[in-house]
Amino acid sequence: MRIGILTSGGDCPGLNAVIRGAVLNGIKTYDHEFVGFQDGWRGVVEGDVVDLPRQRVRGISKQGGTIIGTSRTNPFEGELGGPQNITATLERLGIDAVIAVGGEGTLAAAKRLTDAGLKIVGVPKTIDNDLDATDYTFGFDTAVQIATEAIDRLRTTGESHHRCMVAEVMGRHVGWIALHSGMAAGAHAILMPEQSVPMEQVAQWVREAHERGRAPLVVVAEGWVPQDTDEAYSDRGLDSFGRPRLGGIGDRVALGIEEATGIESRATVLGHIQRGGVPTAYDRVLATRLGMASVDAVSDHAWGNMVALRGTNIYRVPFQAALNNLKRVPQHRYDEAAILFG
Ligand code: F6P
Repeated sequence: MRIGILTSGGDCPGLNAVIRGAVLNGIKTYDHEFVGFQDGWRGVVEGDVVDLPRQRVRGISKQGGTIIGTSRTNPFEGELGGPQNITATLERLGIDAVIAVGGEGTLAAAKRLTDAGLKIVGVPKTIDNDLDATDYTFGFDTAVQIATEAIDRLRTTGESHHRCMVAEVMGRHVGWIALHSGMAAGAHAILMPEQSVPMEQVAQWVREAHERGRAPLVVVAEGWVPQDTDEAYSDRGLDSFGRPRLGGIGDRVALGIEEATGIESRATVLGHIQRGGVPTAYDRVLATRLGMASVDAVSDHAWGNMVALRGTNIYRVPFQAALNNLKRVPQHRYDEAAILFG
């Protein structure tokens, strides 16, 4: 078979390990051939492909990003989009099946295309770890490792200046990165979209840590909303040098803490650093195994399925299983972490 692989949505450490795992398993076990679609669904709709021979994937599992590029292109949009056009493009290129590596949006598009008759298998991908039907997604472990190291470094400034340090981590809808990096780094408060907490409670945790002589550390997921949302925060903020605060949630939390406690506070937004650079060993292994399993699924003609992790095994689930719900941090995981707050 001639198989096309695409990586779509935000880049994520481990994407290259998926590609390598798929290509090596496909060539060695099944004698398949591989091409990569350039820049996600854009390469599919425009028929823009590169060959992926064995030598092209040599040594790439430790590289960050994706060697075939990514984008947030919607395959149903544009003159060349939609199932009929894409089927014609794949026929013209002699491509028998597609492996789509991506998050919720990618898998939803893959499901629609499979329902229309295309031959697609999926691989779940997101640093946020919010895809259902898989225990973990590759990229998450790397993001947590990077965030933890960054928070450890913020601690030294906090201790030296007797400040409260606030780290804003990724997580638009869920707090998995905040939970794990916050627990690992010993944060005094972890704020996540799943838990609505008043600013006064956050200030209280900070006071408790400060009174024990600690430099308070707060980790906030980018999607957290304070219970007592006050839009005026962004207007009020000037730091102790008179510099305007930017108004992101990290800055708003730092300002709220400073106003409530009088403790000088600073925020750091970790942003895309969490997605950059080399994947951890755990992510390389998980991504390699998922890539290999996706080729087994293609070889079994298991169209419309995604490969996923349950416990230590890789199994297959229909796309829909990953799309029904976001995987949020459950209450018991938050309660466990909250014992450590303050
Ligand atoms: O979904 C992964 C993610 O990294 C989110 O945590 C973040 O909100 C978003 O992507 C950022 O997207 P972009 O790279 O397009 O700014």
